[in-house]
Amino acid sequence: MAVALRPTPHRKLGLRHDLIDQSPWLTDEFISIPPARRIAVSTPLSSTSVVTESLSFDFSLATRIVSGPGTINRLGELVSAYGGSRVLIVTDKGLSAAGHDRRAVESIEAAGHVAFIHDDVSPNPTTDDVERAVTAARNHEIDFLVGLGGGSSMDCAKGANFVLSNGGRMEDYWGVGKATKPMLPMIAIPTTAGTGSEAQSFALIANAQTHMKMACGDKKAAARVAILDPELTMTMPRSVAAVTAVDALSHALETFVTTKRNAASSLFSQQAWKLLTNGFPRIFQDEADLEARHQMLLGAHWAGAAIEQSMLGATHALANPLSAHFNTVHGVAIGIMLPHVIRFNGPVAGKLYGQLAEWAGLCDADHPTAVDQLATYVSELVAMAGLPGTLEAEGVERSLFPTLAKEAAQQWTGSFNPREVQPELMQELYESAWTE
Ligand SMILES: [Fe+2]
Repeated sequence: MAVALRPTPHRKLGLRHDLIDQSPWLTDEFISIPPARRIAVSTPLSSTSVVTESLSFDFSLATRIVSGPGTINRLGELVSAYGGSRVLIVTDKGLSAAGHDRRAVESIEAAGHVAFIHDDVSPNPTTDDVERAVTAARNHEIDFLVGLGGGSSMDCAKGANFVLSNGGRMEDYWGVGKATKPMLPMIAIPTTAGTGSEAQSFALIANAQTHMKMACGDKKAAARVAILDPELTMTMPRSVAAVTAVDALSHALETFVTTKRNAASSLFSQQAWKLLTNGFPRIFQDEADLEARHQMLLGAHWAGAAIEQSMLGATHALANPLSAHFNTVHGVAIGIMLPHVIRFNGPVAGKLYGQLAEWAGLCDADHPTAVDQLATYVSELVAMAGLPGTLEAEGVERSLFPTLAKEAAQQWTGSFNPREVQPELMQELYESAWTE
């Protein structure tokens, strides 16, 4: 079956008035941008690729969630509850200026414990970052870990926990379930609303030599507690808020349509989507809107919990080579590719996308243009966040598309996409995202 979606004229966000109550933040004042270029994909669809939701699953929440403004002040009490006395706070230097690490230390000390700060974590943590955190932990003879910051700090803390508790090197834990001994208790405290790492048992750590990203997962690595304090996200620079918000939105969207989705992951994806689509425009209209920040933080967390069950899809498979070759920021690459992947997946995941479109207040779930409306809506949110909408604008070299496409098709995450991710289709998607 050939799929060719025709471009539509420029327009503002179209809303059904009977759905406006569900989305009070959506008004016609929002930007008008040209719709993203439509993709024409000529390869026949596999008859086995239609998405279904499995009612069979094995699920339990590994992480207690303590959510609310000011909850970082409960850190000391929670360290006590899980038997800690000497705590290493793994964080990055950028957070010191905001005073978040000081609040964490004060809470831990008020509970009668000792806290040490390790703030030497790179934005994309490598095995070297993990080694430095392990050395700090050993020097201070700690018995408890806190990951405070974005995904990098939390992943580095998780990564260090593998090596501290089970010995060896980070590389030994690449894959799933490689830790044989119990791991140290850990509390994760996100200061951005993006990765949802605090909801996951995976640490994403790059090999310092090969730069290959290793997903190291084990149920024992999950944080005992996630503290979701929206006050901590108020200090995010707007640029960080933009890329993390788009990333979180993509997690809700991609987890909802993967081949691994199940009745449990679907609950998380739905709730994440509703919170994120509500909070997204609000944080860019009013940076001091604490409720909207809370929606984003909790939405990103639920989306992270959905990933744990259902994995991600083609958008992440396409984004990873862009980051590897051009240092494209993850959220930027995601924002460019996501609308095109929605249209690409539309023929097999259209019903699910229709539900998301309805929950976002765009149209009825079974509206014939629901998929297109959803893709356009995502483009509009990306533009609202101030992020580029094309690969050309991001400075990607078009001549590298065949290489990027080959690499995208080999990404593990792509294997869960509802449509098969063959290299030629990935190249068509890059081409469609090249320019308006
Ligand atoms: Fe992501």
